[in-house]
Amino acid sequence: MLKFVKRHKLLSFIIVLLLAFGVLTALRWNIWFYNPPETPYEVGKTPQWVHLTFGNGNENSRYVSWMCGEEPYEAKVELVNLEKGDTSVVWAAGEDFQSRAGKAAYYSAKLNDLEPNSVYAYRVSVENQASEWYQFRTYTASRDRFSFLYVGDVQDTIKGQTNRLLKEAFRRNPDAEFLVCGGDLTERPTHQYWQETFDGLDSICQYKPLLNVTGNHDYLKGVIAELEMRFPLIFSYFLDSKVGDNMVYTMTYGNAQFFVLDSNREFFYLWTQRSWLKDKLSQSTAKWKILVIHHPLYSIKGNNLIQKWMFNGLVQEYGVDLVLQGHEHAYARRTTKNDDGTQTTPVYTISHCSPKNYLIDFDDDFDKFGISSRYYQTVHVSRDTLSLATYEVYGHTLYDSLNIVKQDSMPARIDDYGKNIKEYLEYTPPSDRSKYRKFQQRIEEYKKKHPERV
Ligand SMILES: [Fe+2]
Repeated sequence: MLKFVKRHKLLSFIIVLLLAFGVLTALRWNIWFYNPPETPYEVGKTPQWVHLTFGNGNENSRYVSWMCGEEPYEAKVELVNLEKGDTSVVWAAGEDFQSRAGKAAYYSAKLNDLEPNSVYAYRVSVENQASEWYQFRTYTASRDRFSFLYVGDVQDTIKGQTNRLLKEAFRRNPDAEFLVCGGDLTERPTHQYWQETFDGLDSICQYKPLLNVTGNHDYLKGVIAELEMRFPLIFSYFLDSKVGDNMVYTMTYGNAQFFVLDSNREFFYLWTQRSWLKDKLSQSTAKWKILVIHHPLYSIKGNNLIQKWMFNGLVQEYGVDLVLQGHEHAYARRTTKNDDGTQTTPVYTISHCSPKNYLIDFDDDFDKFGISSRYYQTVHVSRDTLSLATYEVYGHTLYDSLNIVKQDSMPARIDDYGKNIKEYLEYTPPSDRSKYRKFQQRIEEYKKKHPERV
C-alpha cells in the first residue's frame, strides 16, 4: 500500500512538472524558437558590403570580404602600397550561400605580409565590376601604444542611427585603429538586417578593421541553435581560426593579445572552447590580455552560469586584464576586489549600443551601472597603462573611466576615476506591467543604498 502511494505521488509530481514545462514552453515559444521570416532578395552584380577585418597571419595581415551577385566568379583585390607605389593583385576565394529567402556569393581575399607602418589603397572587383577605392594603414608591430573602439550589441532597427553615432565616435577618436564588437551586431540573420548592419558601418569598416564575435542574435533559433555559414563568410578570419564549429579567434596586436569566444553554444562546444582558451592563454606572452565574449561572465540578469563556470577560472588564473562583454543591454563595470577591498584585474564590462534596453539587477559586486542609453568604449594602451573610457553615445559624454596600471612585476593597480562620475538611472516604465514597476522599485532601492553614485 505504502509503495502504491509513493508511486502515485511520484507520478503526480512528474505530470505536474511536464505540465509546467509545457506551459512555460508555450509562453516562451517565440523567444526560444521563432525566427522571423527573411524577405526574398536579389543581390546586384556590383560589390557590396566591402569591409576590412583582421587576418590569421600576424598583426600586419588583413582580410577584405564582400558580397556580389549570386554565383562566385573570378574576383580580386587590387592593392597599392602608397609609400612605395607598388601595385599587386590578390585573388579572392568566393563561395555562394543559400539563405532562407535568397542566394548570394561571398568573397574573401587574404592580404598577408603587409608592410608595417604603411598606407595602402585597395578596391575589390568581380569580373569587371569594381568597387570604389578605399584605404587603410598598418602599424609597427609589437609597439606599446595603440587604441581601439568597442561596442556591445548594436542590433539596430531598419534605418537606425548607428552610422551617424559611430562616425561621430571615430571623428572624436581619430587615432582608434580598429573597431571591436561584442556580438549581436545584427538584429537577426536576415538579408535585410545584414544590410542594416553594413549601412551602419558604411565609411567606417572599409577603412578600419572590424573584429566581431558571435552573439545569440546571429544564430537561427531552434532546439539546437544554428549559425548560418553567412556569418563566417562575412567575418572570414573565423574560416581559418575556428575549432570544429566553434567560432574562436586570437590575435596579437602591439603588446596585447585578444581572445574571442563563441559563448552561444551548448555545453560540449563550450568545453572545446575552454581547452582552446587554456592552451592560448598559457602560451601568451603579451603584456595585456583582452577577452571578448558575448555573454557576461558575471551577469546582471542572473544568467550565464555555464559560461562563467567554463571560462572565468581561466580568466583569473591566466591574468586576463579586461573582459569586454555584451548581451544584457545596459552598462555595468565590475573590478575584482582583493581581500583588503582594493581593486584589481580582471576588469569586466557589459555594454551595448542598441536602441533596446533591458531590465537588470543591481548586484553590489559591480562598481557602476548605466541604463536607458547606448554606449561605446575607448581602450588606450600606453606602455604600462591600459585606459578604459566609456561614453554615452548621444551626447558623447564621459560615463566611466579607469586605468589599469601594471608596473614591472607589481600586481595590477586600478585607478578608478569613474566612481566620481554620476550614474544616469532615469527610467520611464513603458506600461503598468508588474515587471516594469518592479524594475523601477529596484532602481529606487539602489539609489537609496548608493546615494554617492547617483
Ligand atoms: Fe545577445
